[in-house]
Amino acid sequence: MIAIRKDQTSNIPAIAPGSLLGIEHMAAAEIMSLLKAAARMNPRRSRPPLRGKRVLLLFYEPSTRTRSSFEIAAKSLGAITTLVQSSGSSIEKGESLLDTVYTLRAVGADILVIRHPNAGAPLLAARHLDIPVINAGDGMHEHPSQALLDAYTILRHKKTLNGLHITIVGDIYHSRVARSAIHLFSKFGAKITLCGPADFLPELAASLAPGLHLSRTVEDAVRGADAVMVLRVQKERLAGKKISLQEYILKYQVTAERLKLAKKDALLMHPGPIVRGLELTSEVADCAQSVIVEEVQNGVPVRMAILARALGKGKDGR
Ligand code: CP
Repeated sequence: MIAIRKDQTSNIPAIAPGSLLGIEHMAAAEIMSLLKAAARMNPRRSRPPLRGKRVLLLFYEPSTRTRSSFEIAAKSLGAITTLVQSSGSSIEKGESLLDTVYTLRAVGADILVIRHPNAGAPLLAARHLDIPVINAGDGMHEHPSQALLDAYTILRHKKTLNGLHITIVGDIYHSRVARSAIHLFSKFGAKITLCGPADFLPELAASLAPGLHLSRTVEDAVRGADAVMVLRVQKERLAGKKISLQEYILKYQVTAERLKLAKKDALLMHPGPIVRGLELTSEVADCAQSVIVEEVQNGVPVRMAILARALGKGKDGR
């Protein structure tokens, strides 16, 4: 019988072990264990560990990287995947989030991967299901798998995150990527500089984690950095706020000239999707220091490790 936790009158229900809802409350050791497991993932195993398991991908927002790499990761582990998107599903007819996730559990989901425009939607789903729930990005809250793949990417080029100077430039306020990255990098002792206009970087951002530094000029922010993470201007989350893109480009666009201020071996990162000519130039997106494509590639082993952990399949997917 399927156990669905509908009782909202009792104590807050436990969340299924193996869920990944955010980085904020994860221990550094747990994060490191996931990153090490990702490095051991082998998509060509003869006995895939999730054979016969069902991974339901529930996407209420557009996605290319996260959706495709979770799907490829699940299939590489032998799982069956089903994609449900808000468009073309009964969500369009008014079905609630909880009724939707109950339905997906009832058809046999073993893991739910969910992207939603509202912060906390994955947590709500996890509180009402008896299966692991993976947050694939919730509103302006967290995008934990992105932070993990970004840390994984950095650690393929640098020995440690401890003491690294990581600069994040752009629309930090609306960015779940930035929020998860800040939580993760600060747990490992990185020095983080945030840069953006006041609308995208309120002073209170400094309270997100200890040791954060705010900079209003991209030149100051990038100078001496070991990694520069550029973020997209999230027009879909501006909620009527008007920003001058011309002014943004002038002051904050990461150009080849500005990137030269970083260390010679600095990594140029971007979670994607990139908008060439806005937050960065094409020259920067495709430069030798750019690891943008590598970040996407690393999404597969990292998400394999997340899914294997979700079903308790050990540190190397066994
Ligand atoms: N980085 C990221 O989440 O990209 P998608 O929106 O394409 O999944």
